[in-house]
Amino acid sequence: CEIHLIAAARPNFMKVAPLYHALAAQSWCTPRIVHTGQHYDANMSDAFFRDLRLPQPHFHLEVGSGSHAEQTAGVMVAYEKICNQHRPDWTVVVGDVNSTAACAMVAAKMWIPVVHLEAGLRSRDRRMPEEINRLVTDAISDVFWTPSVDADENLVSEGVASERIDRVGNIMIDSYEMMRPQIEAEAGPAKFDLPAGGYAVVTLHRPSNVDQPEVLGDLVRQLLEISRRLPLIFAVHPRTRKKLDEFKLWSELSAARGIHLTEPLGYIEFMALVRSANAVITDSGGVQEESTYLGIPCLTLRENTERPVTVLQGSNRLVKPRELADSIGLVLNGQWPRGSRPAGWDGRTAERCVAALKRRQEQRLTIKRA
Ligand code: UD1
Ligand code: UDP
Repeated sequence: CEIHLIAAARPNFMKVAPLYHALAAQSWCTPRIVHTGQHYDANMSDAFFRDLRLPQPHFHLEVGSGSHAEQTAGVMVAYEKICNQHRPDWTVVVGDVNSTAACAMVAAKMWIPVVHLEAGLRSRDRRMPEEINRLVTDAISDVFWTPSVDADENLVSEGVASERIDRVGNIMIDSYEMMRPQIEAEAGPAKFDLPAGGYAVVTLHRPSNVDQPEVLGDLVRQLLEISRRLPLIFAVHPRTRKKLDEFKLWSELSAARGIHLTEPLGYIEFMALVRSANAVITDSGGVQEESTYLGIPCLTLRENTERPVTVLQGSNRLVKPRELADSIGLVLNGQWPRGSRPAGWDGRTAERCVAALKRRQEQRLTIKRA
């Protein structure tokens, strides 16, 4: 039984890695990593293969950047060729990037059963490209692996039969638990001459925050203000780097004494910074979850989140740019809720995925034989 695991962009690698390792240890199946090439810089891709001990991808589609249509179409054309030559028994897509929807569409049209890992999340904001990818992928997937109860409810309300849903938990946490010894052994903030508990980590990359000069300019001003009270380590995503240059905001930011700018960081280095931080300021989906798991205050610069459990139960809150300084005040006064860990975020999600897939593969074989 051959299983394609689709990996494309930074947030996919930490979802694919635990599943790859768990499937590779089985005798009944062979996992194959398909890298679409949506992210390609060494620090957006190779670093994660190294940190998460993934082998070289078995197939590399080398699609690269482009408009939404170019990227989605490029992945579809290239993945269809792979499926024609090396048809898998299952295609597992993860998350909500363009490559997720593209590969799901290719496989579904070839009658290859599609599993969506991290299914059912909804921001209900169709201005987000990821929400479109989530809706498309979940409309055509065969099996839905969900991280939380809200995801199951969203799927059922959209007409998905509950027997197609396996609530497996949060796979990102498996990566954290798998790499915990290395993360805990890493220098973390000392690399920036900062003490544990004496800084916040910043990541920004959503088009809604970084693509317009006024919005990004306002955010930069807020960060400069906060950095006078709490040092900030800002790991700058390539999209954001381009926009900071284009809008002539980079030099002001890099001149600020309290702001430590860095390239995108590897997984171990980044998580070592998050675990010892006072807070994270982010618009990342994954970072909202990791901070909830670690009980680190998370200030999410968005109007909505497809991960409501991180707000209802965890340490995440949605904040407007002008509320950032007050929110950091609450963190520094110890008034920010630490929250608790959602059920099933326990480092054993990959194990549950393997058991669920094995059962479904056996069902398929029984139906075929009958
Ligand atoms: C993509 C995903 C987003 C995810 C994010 C994680 C979509 C629609 N977006 O956004 O959901 O949260 O990845 O990081 O799928 N670039 C580089 N080097 C790279 C990759 C990108 O320089 O290795 C630059 C290019 O200029 C590119 C831009 O970043 O045009 C945006 O890349 P793209 O993959 O289109 O979207 P992201 O913003 O990275
Ligand atoms: N991450 C990382 N280095 C960084 C920034 C993020 O390793 O410099 C990790 C982070 O811990 C999380 C994942 O990348 O596991 C999230 O990716 P990203 O924010 O790019 O995408 P999103 O989750 O928003 O789709």
